[in-house]
Amino acid sequence: MKLSCGTRFTFLVLFLFAAQSVAVYAGSFHKDVQIHWGDGRGKVRDRDGKLLSLSLDKSSGSGFQSHQEFLYGKAEVQMKLVPGNSAGTVTTFYLKSPGTTWDEIDFEFLGNISGHPYTLHTNVYTRGSGDKEQQFHLWFDPTKNFHTYCITWNPQRIIFTVDGVPIREFKNSESMGVPFPKNQPMRLYASLWEAEHWATRGGLEKTDWSKAPFTAFYRNYNVEGCVWANGKSSCPANALWFTQKVDLEGEKKMKWAQSKYMIYNYCTDKRRFPQGVPAVCT
Ligand SMILES: *[C@@H]1O[C@H](CO)[C@@H](O)[C@H](O)[C@H]1NC(C)=O
Repeated sequence: MKLSCGTRFTFLVLFLFAAQSVAVYAGSFHKDVQIHWGDGRGKVRDRDGKLLSLSLDKSSGSGFQSHQEFLYGKAEVQMKLVPGNSAGTVTTFYLKSPGTTWDEIDFEFLGNISGHPYTLHTNVYTRGSGDKEQQFHLWFDPTKNFHTYCITWNPQRIIFTVDGVPIREFKNSESMGVPFPKNQPMRLYASLWEAEHWATRGGLEKTDWSKAPFTAFYRNYNVEGCVWANGKSSCPANALWFTQKVDLEGEKKMKWAQSKYMIYNYCTDKRRFPQGVPAVCT
């Protein structure tokens, strides 16, 4: 059984149920990624490579990257974020190409002081230019359990989902002159780092280093995509995510998530775009 993220919620429940008996998740941290940063602060925790932890202390954070590069794909992982006072910490899961005019698709989780909600920050960069932020609070405590975060990137759109709920869709609007990531293969990255000045309302909340090391967990890594090798990409046959849309049920869920949990949207930031919001928003 192969299902893509963003399928209907009822479907997802069945899927999670089925996942207990069927090996749906194929990824292994041992095989698929390299812990490229953090000098031992990132660790694969089990023999099968299903569980990985990243940690952050005063001298360094940590991170991993996929061995393979992809030109379109679906990247999914379950994450359990730093609990307690996580102010100033940022836990990420994103796709990025190299170079100075890079493309990037971001999930970034900004920690907060105890009892205050995380902010989920999303962004899309095309040719080195971002400025397409949307931020959310979550409808659950992301530090208590694992939750599934997924990026679907295909030629028509980018879909961000949380536990199967699409929270954001970035459509290909090249016909309106808006660049869309489609030429540069990206690697999958994850990291836990410190960004006091950015992440906590301009450094208002300081990171409490007496609580270090901070630890976040990643589980059931699964990235499927058009693998880039020797200057060309090859896509798996009949990959559902390659043509995936947000269906009607998904639209409903997305409306729900955006109306209740979105806390910032560049598309409605008139102060920032006094000349009118970017074309892709309309
Ligand atoms: C921290 O929580 C407050 C609400 O108590 C919220 O306004 C703020 O956006 C949160 N900060 C981050 C970085 O998530």
